[in-house]
Amino acid sequence: MILILLGAPGAGKGTQAERLVTAYGLVQLSTGEMLRSEVKSQSELGQKAKEIMESGELVPDDLIIKMISVRISQESDAEGIILDGFPRTTEQAKALDIMLKEKDLRINHVIQLEVNEEEIVERLSGRFSCTDCGMGYHEKFAAPVNKGICDKCKSTNFTRRSDDSPKTLRNRLSAYKEQTALILPYYSTKGCLKSIDGMAEMDIVFDEIKKMIDGD
Ligand code: AP5
Repeated sequence: MILILLGAPGAGKGTQAERLVTAYGLVQLSTGEMLRSEVKSQSELGQKAKEIMESGELVPDDLIIKMISVRISQESDAEGIILDGFPRTTEQAKALDIMLKEKDLRINHVIQLEVNEEEIVERLSGRFSCTDCGMGYHEKFAAPVNKGICDKCKSTNFTRRSDDSPKTLRNRLSAYKEQTALILPYYSTKGCLKSIDGMAEMDIVFDEIKKMIDGD
């Protein structure tokens, strides 16, 4: 199964992808996470991507397509793949079609999580994660059970993403509206686009996604 999660920054793509991994044994491929790990390791790609990500712009299509095609090939035996944050431009969407066709795979669902801007700002200004295991949290909506201690690995070290700053977030939102939102008609024409109210509570959003998958 190939499932694409689409939505503005903070729409809940990563949150829902993590739950889908646990519930269905799917593999999550997040281009944002891959790029952050390239930046951390100071690879050639990471060095090219760092400034662009810090500004909130999109990393060039050729770099992204090369990076994701390697990972999709590595995971071609997986139960299914969740694409989180990819594709983000029409060019990327077309390249994905070619990659999947070569592997005799097809897109089963493109799920758009719809969230308004006010909510996005609240979500991203309160987001943090465990430095050691990467578990994601939110000050108000998903705080650790014991304050200051990671539920998963008991670490007491937490980090915030540098691109969640108000200035970078404005650019990320513009990039979404001006480039990524353009791929919605592309998938709508293909008949595989479904929209979900991403403003609802996390459990409700997850139930809606499950209904779509289980209804297949
Ligand atoms: P990326 O890492 O993909 O960031 P993004 O798309 O901006 O999305 P986020 O990870 O910020 O949000 P999310 O939708 O996953 O929300 P989350 O679940 O965390 O990309 C970063 C950068 O990399 C880009 O700006 C670009 O430069 C580059 N890049 C990546 N992919 C690229 C590509 N394909 N092409 C070109 N460049 C690329 O939720 C957010 C918060 O809200 C959390 O705290 C969570 O707990 C909370 N929350 C989630 N759901 C709910 C809910 N229902 N109710 C209340 N709170 C909720």
